[in-house]
Amino acid sequence: MPTRVRKAVFPVAGLGTRLLPATKSIPKEMVTIVDRPLIQYAVDEAREAGIEQLIFVTGRGKSALVDYFDQAFELEATLRDKGKGLEILAPSNAKFGEVVTVRQQRPLGLGHAVWCARHIVGDEPFAVLLPDELMLGQPGCLAQMVEAYDRVGGNLVAALEVPDSETHKYGVIDPGTSDGRLTEIRGMVEKPAPGTAPSNLMLPGRYILQPEVMNALDAQETGAGGEIQLTDAIAKLIRSQPVHAYRFEGERYDCGSAAGFVIANLAVALQREDVAPTVKAFLSR
Ligand code: G1P
Repeated sequence: MPTRVRKAVFPVAGLGTRLLPATKSIPKEMVTIVDRPLIQYAVDEAREAGIEQLIFVTGRGKSALVDYFDQAFELEATLRDKGKGLEILAPSNAKFGEVVTVRQQRPLGLGHAVWCARHIVGDEPFAVLLPDELMLGQPGCLAQMVEAYDRVGGNLVAALEVPDSETHKYGVIDPGTSDGRLTEIRGMVEKPAPGTAPSNLMLPGRYILQPEVMNALDAQETGAGGEIQLTDAIAKLIRSQPVHAYRFEGERYDCGSAAGFVIANLAVALQREDVAPTVKAFLSR
């Protein structure tokens, strides 16, 4: 049985420029999907998969994210005085020591953000979740991956098919043989030039990685867009460790853009018993 995955890294230092002006003063991860900030969905997904430590790689202007997972005594007292329940706050109250933060002082790429967490991750496997990508599944994407990881170990990346016209926006895998939802990975490329992608299986931002990926990132080599890319570091492991893609069963919503946010809001609203009837009635008008 491979070593259990207890820690998850959430790269949340990005400026969120595609969601300006909202993100001028709030982190994009705090923008809401129905009534919960985007980060809550990724954290719920991680907890469901058995993650015990949430490592936020933050930057300037991101303290609202850390405050969100703190206990709000005044708010709780006020709710109590009004005879209101506190259950609504439960998912946002981190356990003691559950949240750890580290700063990425310069935006040098996703690989660099993950590398900034190396001393907290230490010598054990860890997950990475990109909160912009809202993954809805039963069970969630990371829980599905942990189940597969318990069988094959090594490194696992979620993979999803996209139209050929979109592969240049993502990390893309060169697939080998498949066994059910698992596919062996022969190579990976970050943001391939249009028409050159090895497949249309893209990386939607969920990873289970071995600590050796941090050694690959030590080199600080830059790749696509002049950034230090996580995809390149994982590709380097292929020679020495198993690297598999896991085709996740569920839906993915890219909340990196305004349209994506609106679509994700609708998708979640239509799944919520309390909100769906009103939203459905509006949409059918
Ligand atoms: C990052 C990763 C890329 C992945 C994408 C998913 O790219 O580098 O491999 O496919 O997230 O959203 P970014 O969107 O930060 O450019």
